[in-house]
Amino acid sequence: MAYIINDEVIERIHDEANIVDIVSEYLNLKRSGANFVGLCPFHNEKTPSFTVSETKQFFHCFGCGEGGDVISFVMKMENMSFLEASEYLANKLGIPLTEKSEKEKKLELEKEKIYEINREAVRFYYSNLIKNQEALKYIKNRKIKRKTINQFGLGFAEDNWDGVYKYLLGKGYNEKDLEKAGLIGMRRDKTGYYDKFRNRIIFPIIDTKNRVIGFGGRVIDETMPKYLNSRDTLVFTKGNNLYGLNLVRKHSNRERIILVEGYMDVIALFNNGINYAVASLGTAFTSNQAKLLKRYGKEVLICYDSDNAGINATTKAINILRKEGVEAKVILLPLNQDPDDFIKENGIREFEKLIKNPLNYIDYYIFVYKEKYNLSNPDGKIKFTQEIAKILSRIKSPIEKDVYISKISKETGISKEAIEKEVLGRNYNSNTRISKDKYINRGFRHNKDKIEPVNLVLESGHLKAEKLLIKLMIENKSYFDIINRYLAMEDFFNYECSFLAEIIFREYNSNPLLNNIDHQFILNNIKDKEKLDLNTVNEILNQNIHFLSNDMEKTIEDLINTINFSKLKMELDSVTKKIQEIGNNLNGENMEEFKELSLRQLELKNELESYI
Ligand code: GTP
Ligand code: MN
Repeated sequence: MAYIINDEVIERIHDEANIVDIVSEYLNLKRSGANFVGLCPFHNEKTPSFTVSETKQFFHCFGCGEGGDVISFVMKMENMSFLEASEYLANKLGIPLTEKSEKEKKLELEKEKIYEINREAVRFYYSNLIKNQEALKYIKNRKIKRKTINQFGLGFAEDNWDGVYKYLLGKGYNEKDLEKAGLIGMRRDKTGYYDKFRNRIIFPIIDTKNRVIGFGGRVIDETMPKYLNSRDTLVFTKGNNLYGLNLVRKHSNRERIILVEGYMDVIALFNNGINYAVASLGTAFTSNQAKLLKRYGKEVLICYDSDNAGINATTKAINILRKEGVEAKVILLPLNQDPDDFIKENGIREFEKLIKNPLNYIDYYIFVYKEKYNLSNPDGKIKFTQEIAKILSRIKSPIEKDVYISKISKETGISKEAIEKEVLGRNYNSNTRISKDKYINRGFRHNKDKIEPVNLVLESGHLKAEKLLIKLMIENKSYFDIINRYLAMEDFFNYECSFLAEIIFREYNSNPLLNNIDHQFILNNIKDKEKLDLNTVNEILNQNIHFLSNDMEKTIEDLINTINFSKLKMELDSVTKKIQEIGNNLNGENMEEFKELSLRQLELKNELESYI
């Protein structure tokens, strides 16, 4: 992208694009009264509930709730950022664009060059593979079909030091660019370059916009290291991508997505017709990857190797996903197997059975701690029960809690009452709870010593904190990164703040190189949003943040504490009010609710106390 999209451009797009024409390029629309209807491209349906209004220039799906203007339609459909979709439409409509700064243009060109080089490299590695008997034999041994080779663009780097180097130089690229792409490295004595990937099967890593961003390579013998990945480059950040996501985006119906450890696991699954698996690229699973999973599968299933490392990685991933509001489930494999091994040994039908019966995360923890502790001796039983109590204290539903407490009681022979007490005791200082309640306290880690709520005048304090956090996120990506650890987009309550949060989260997540967000860009985005109060938005944008302390981590933590404290208090108020209402009119039907509310009231009071 080499242009700046300004106000004027957006306005002209809205004036000149007809949403009916644009949507019709993707699906069949039929007139229905004043509107047009068709099958929604954003969810699976058999009867049309996707509606396009020509007069309002809006689309809305009554089935899945997606809706917006022509730009947001293209964003969703093409998986583009706001800027990319605007540029795409502007070009289509022949609207002239102003140019980007020289610096921005240079960076774009550099990135484009890397994509181009990588794509050439894929061709080269592929042509090597199909003529190399040894590599083909390896592929054949691993039962990979021809179709799967093509689908993933697999290749082979031959056993020499300058294969890709010479090939790409011959195509007119220079050494510096090849090094920037991470395909070659400088020799230690600085006399020249060498190929990074040698004698390896090559796995191109492709993003959801179908750009080749990096490579993985596996040896075909016993040499170490077994796998090699591209280093991070201008276009490749390991923790921001998932291997296979390009194909999931293309083929899967997004009902579920399976997270596996390795390249070969993803390939084995696709090879057997399961088109919704991704791998986390050999690094520790990150919250950015969790966000991607959330977008591409309603249900997230973790299926890591069933060794100790795999178990640790699974519980870590469960927690990271919980912070993003996803309750992942786990597919458990027999000891020391990965999905690829399992399918080879038992066939795909057996694996499909496992997919249908995953463990929820509580049952998974029960399994893990049963492995860890010896339940046949008292000490093991106690430790086991204490660990499980920690997990059970996170469950909100009293019924669900009760079911698990009974189960643990049966397993250990410890009385239900004792376990209940343990669970309740944990509850008072549970610090990673995520509730689906209206007033969310999203996993903010606090401990008693650290907490000093900045401002206890809550109504205005809360609002002030939200506004400041929004301002900080806009001005500096590194502040956004800190805040993003604790709060999600939905955690902002004020209408203007929540709207701005949506823009901020979207922009930073789709443009990894952004350092801050332009005020003008925000103003462009909120035009025509009638309900939005422009004065409040301006007030937010123009706040003075220079008076804040230099210890920004601490300042942000204080602000988040203020918000969390206020949310707890709001919930306590509403719960107390409900209890009074029901208490005046207690009967058999509302007894359960009354009990649940009272328990919650107790929890909230305790939690609030821990702040002061
Ligand atoms: P196969 O032996 O080919 O079936 O591989 P696997 O996927 O079963 O391998 P493993 O479980 O050992 O590793 C899982 C993933 O971790 C791999 O797909 C790689 O992404 C990563 N990985 C494994 N070994 C290495 C290594 O030596 N170096 C690096 N950087 N990553 C590795
Ligand atoms: Mn394997």
